[in-house]
Formats: sequence, structure tokens, C-alpha cells
Amino acid sequence: MSKKKPKPTLPPRERAFLVGVEWKGQKNLLSLQDSLTELALLADTAGLEVVGELTQKLDRPHVETFIGPGKVEELKALVEETLAQLVIFDDELSPRHQRELEKALGEAVRVMDRTGLILDIFAQHAHTKEGMLQVELAQYEYYLPRLTRRWTHLARQAGGGGGRTGSVGGVGLRGPGETQLEVDRRAIRARIAHLKRELEKVKAHRSRYRAQRRRARIPTVSLVGYTNAGKSTLLNRLANANVYVADQLFATLDPTTRRVELPGGAVALFTDTVGFIQKLPPTLVAAFRATLEEITEADLLLHVVDISHPNALQQYEAVQLTLDEIGAGHIPTITVLNKIDRLREPQAAQEIMRQVPKSVAISALQGTGIEEMLRLIHCELYEFFLPIEVRLPYQEGALISLFHEMGQVERIEHGRGGVVIQGRIPGRLIARFTPWLVKSPHDEQEHPAPLHVG
Ligand code: GTP
Repeated sequence: MSKKKPKPTLPPRERAFLVGVEWKGQKNLLSLQDSLTELALLADTAGLEVVGELTQKLDRPHVETFIGPGKVEELKALVEETLAQLVIFDDELSPRHQRELEKALGEAVRVMDRTGLILDIFAQHAHTKEGMLQVELAQYEYYLPRLTRRWTHLARQAGGGGGRTGSVGGVGLRGPGETQLEVDRRAIRARIAHLKRELEKVKAHRSRYRAQRRRARIPTVSLVGYTNAGKSTLLNRLANANVYVADQLFATLDPTTRRVELPGGAVALFTDTVGFIQKLPPTLVAAFRATLEEITEADLLLHVVDISHPNALQQYEAVQLTLDEIGAGHIPTITVLNKIDRLREPQAAQEIMRQVPKSVAISALQGTGIEEMLRLIHCELYEFFLPIEVRLPYQEGALISLFHEMGQVERIEHGRGGVVIQGRIPGRLIARFTPWLVKSPHDEQEHPAPLHVG
């Protein structure tokens, strides 16, 4: 007879108290309340229990404690009352703010901000070597100016390990209890330099891989979107890729690439990328530059939007902003309105589609609209031609043959040192011909509208 195993009990979740500030005269993407709701979701994803929240209207942050001294007192009382162990600010705190707040709230309470929390979630979700290196680097760079005696031991632990990334900041979400280890900033700086070198190697490898893909002439499509929009679910649906799907923020951190057959037999490589979120600090975006390069070099972007989310429009805008920031604003984009199965009135999606150019409504979960989406992708990649005139030196033989193979040559003139070709090429190839442009598609007056063939 086998003994019945006792049910495993989960350790109690750490109790977190949230603080949000409304900036007078400043327009934010999300309202204070929506931003705090999102912060609560982030905290939940990080395994915390949210026990309360406090808000304040301010012109500017208080020099020492970010919120005013009276609010700090109020916060202290609430933290004691709710037995909170952690206070999370929705805005980025300076190292000084963090120190002063910790001093004011007492030894037992840790103070962190949205960035620190996102970094912690990233640390939990990084799986590939590159992802782990990027997170570890971002954590060190974020925490280095914030080091005090109580923060350093975990930094050292993560630095020496080389295994899974930990909670470098010692925010106490994971990892052992704090001990009093000496601060060694120099060691951390050396670790940062080492991580940067390692990342360079990974990056070089990645760009060799991309060059190979280019030579194979398989177009790449990057899935972008706000966190939790359904990118991984869509990639799973398309390629049975078995990418990790979870109702959590930032379940996907590492890019996953899958080969997908389009209607008509052509193939494209689809890449899932890290989810975007509002208030993502530029330093964090920079830390993931290598991953984001996948996006900037894509032939086409699929911007996945959770159309059932009350802030769908704001989320859409936050993603567009980030795309502009990383230099991907010019890439042809199809907007995919996902989760239509959750809409009470599916016609609402039709209405939005009329307003958003090149959009399609789908349910990645149920498979609705996928065929239509693939047709649109095929059309963008293979049937959307742009007029162009280029002067190609003879040593660019590969490009000359690419034009003949994939484009439509209307006029060709062989001259000394090169060949001038005028014609039309698939929109996705424009970037490759850009250095040799005589006339760009944009200043081509006689062909104002791009042509759809087929
Ligand atoms: P990040 O990794 O945070 O960037 O998220 P993601 O965009 O990859 O989202 P993911 O695919 O992990 O989906 C998030 C949640 O939305 C999961 O619970 C999915 O099951 C759910 N979901 C995705 N697509 C649909 C859909 O079409 N309908 C419904 N009802 N739920 C969906």
C-alpha cells in the first residue's frame, strides 16, 4: 500500500504595498488607476501579494523621498497596518529616493520601483544564454548605483554563479535571506564588463545566423505587441511551436523563431519577441537591444493587440512609441486584433479594422481569422511592390540578380562602373537596395500609390 503524499503547501507570498503618483499637468498614456492596476498585475506575476495602494498628486518628485513627507508618514502607518514587507513605486526612483524611503520606512521594509519589478520578472523568464546575460547585465547596471550594505550579497551571488539569473537587487522575492557582505563595486564593474563581452559574442553569432537567413532569402516576420497580447499563443497556433504561453506578463523573453508555410507554399520565419509595456525605461530597452534587433531587421511586423483589453488603444500606442524608439517605426506592419472571442460585440473589431490600415481580426486561441491573416502576410511579403530606381555597382552582382529574380525590371542601362535599374521590387526588399537608390519609392511622383499585383 502506498502512502498518500501530503499536498505541497506554497510558501506565503511576500506582501507588497503599491504607491502611484499623478503628475499635475502631465499627460500619461494610462490613467493613474490603470497604471496601478497594471503594476498590481506585474506584482502578481512576480509572485507577490498586493495588500494595498496609496496615491498622491504632485508637481514634481520630492527631492529626498519622492512623495511628500506627510505622505511618507501615511505610507508608514499603512505599511505597518497591512504588514507589508515591500513597497513598490509605479515610477522610477532615483538611488537617493530609494535610500531615503528605506530609512524612513524602517529596516524591515524594502523599497523598489516598477523597473526593479520588471527586471525581477525578466530574471524569472529568461531561458536562453542571451536572455540570461541580458537580464543579468541590466540588473547590475540598475542596482550598481543603488548598492548599500543590505543589497550587495545577492549581487555577488548572481555574479559568481553563472547559472540562472537571480534577484540581483536583493528585493527579497527569491534567493536566500540577506547577510552582511562587503560591497565590492569593482567586482561588479568587472562582471559588467565580462557580461558585455559575452553579449558581444552572442550578438556576433546571431548576426552571422541572420546573414545566413538573408542569403536563404526567407522573409522574416516579427511578432510584436504589449505584454500578454497573445503573441506566443499566435506563434503556437501557426507553427505548433510549443512556445511557453501563460496568462502572465512577460512570459516570453527570448526570441523564438519558427518556420511557417504561407498559403500558396511560400515560407516565412516568424519570431516571437519580448512584450512591451508602458513606462519601460530606456535603459531596459537598451539592455535588450540584441533581442530587439530581431525586430529592426524584420521584413514585416505583426503588431498583436489584445482587442478585448479596456486599454487596447493605449497599449497599441505604447508599442508604436517603443518601435519608433528602437528604430523600427518604418517597417511595414500588419495590425492583428487578437482575442475577438472575448468581445461581447464582435462587430466592434470590424469597426476598428476600418480605422486601422492593414489590420485583421483573429482569435489565436480558437483559430478564427488565421487564414485571412496569413493571406494578408503573403500579400505584404510577396505581392506588395514598390517602384524604385537604383544604380548598382557591378560588384553587387547578388543584388543585381536579386532584382531580376524577385522584382520587375522596367528599364536597365549598363554604364561604366555599374548598372541602373528601374522597376518594382517587393516592399520587404527595399532596405537592401537603399544604399544604391537613385530614386526612392517615396519621392516617386509618377507612381504615388504602391501597386498590388495578383
Ligand atoms: P508576453 O510573453 O507577456 O509578451 O505575452 P504574449 O503576448 O506572448 O501572450 P501569450 O500568448 O502568453 O497570451 C497571454 C494570455 O492570453 C494567455 O492566457 C493566452 O491563453 C491568452 N490568449 C491569447 N490569445 C487569446 C485569444 O485569442 N483569446 C483568448 N480568450 N485568450 C487568448
